[in-house]
Amino acid sequence: MTTVYLNGEYLPLERAAISPLDRGFLYGDAVYEVIRAYQGRLFLLEGHFQRLESSLAKMRMGAYLTPLRAVPRELLQRNDLAASDALIYLQISRGAAAKRSHFFPPADTKPTIFGWAWAFAPNPEWWEPGMSVVTISDDRWARCDIKTTALVPNVLANQRAKEAGAHEGIFVRDGALTEGTLSNVWAVFDGEVRTPPLTNYILPGIKRDATIGLCRATGIPVRETPIYESELLEADELFLTSTVYDVAPIHRIDGRVMQAERPVTRRLMQLFRELVEREAA
Ligand code: PDD
Repeated sequence: MTTVYLNGEYLPLERAAISPLDRGFLYGDAVYEVIRAYQGRLFLLEGHFQRLESSLAKMRMGAYLTPLRAVPRELLQRNDLAASDALIYLQISRGAAAKRSHFFPPADTKPTIFGWAWAFAPNPEWWEPGMSVVTISDDRWARCDIKTTALVPNVLANQRAKEAGAHEGIFVRDGALTEGTLSNVWAVFDGEVRTPPLTNYILPGIKRDATIGLCRATGIPVRETPIYESELLEADELFLTSTVYDVAPIHRIDGRVMQAERPVTRRLMQLFRELVEREAA
């Protein structure tokens, strides 16, 4: 039986009910986070809460975070996941109001706060032989820096990737790679690691930030600068970072197989595993 968190209560999933008038349902008017637990140990929790706070502020929603801080660990406990690899999902919507209106509902409308956790088994193919990806035109809105649940373009792109026999779709806007449907994208050129800069067109990934930190701490040259589609043939290595994929090499892009040697990605995968050992708590 799955236990979820809803508006201050822990209850069986079957009994968790929200109004069909919820603005998350009607408008996608909600923000979310996905947090990773390694054998029950939460990874980079503070970063996820900081980003949630930032998403709420950008959506002009109040801050409801204090009571939420205990929820990820409590969900692991209550679902027998205290020693498991798991994902924890948190979502806050602008709540349900009596009338449908595009403008904000009355100020006393309570947000809907939902938490859910499940055991997570990564697909071993993501690391060996590595990710197969396809590029897809980035037709999303211009506020991809907000982690909202309005993910239709990501859903359509991920489905297209799946139908093409790939694991992930990489968005391309104006000739430059922006990010994956649920990941950030990286390239290595002559030993230098590059990832697109933080703009309104990408999500500030928690693992992206951690990976830049790993590069800086170990002297791997790293630069936040655009990666153009026209340069892809010259890239020695490509990889992704995400709460779901960790650091995962790209093995194939639009059908073209990358070279098997990927020393920089391998090193970052190892550094990442060590970071998890040190930091997950
Ligand atoms: N998504 N870009 C997008 C569009 C994402 O949805 C995600 C994560 C990332 C990577 O961010 P992070 O390193 O913080 O996981 C980048 C989560 C995992 C999801 O939607 O399931």
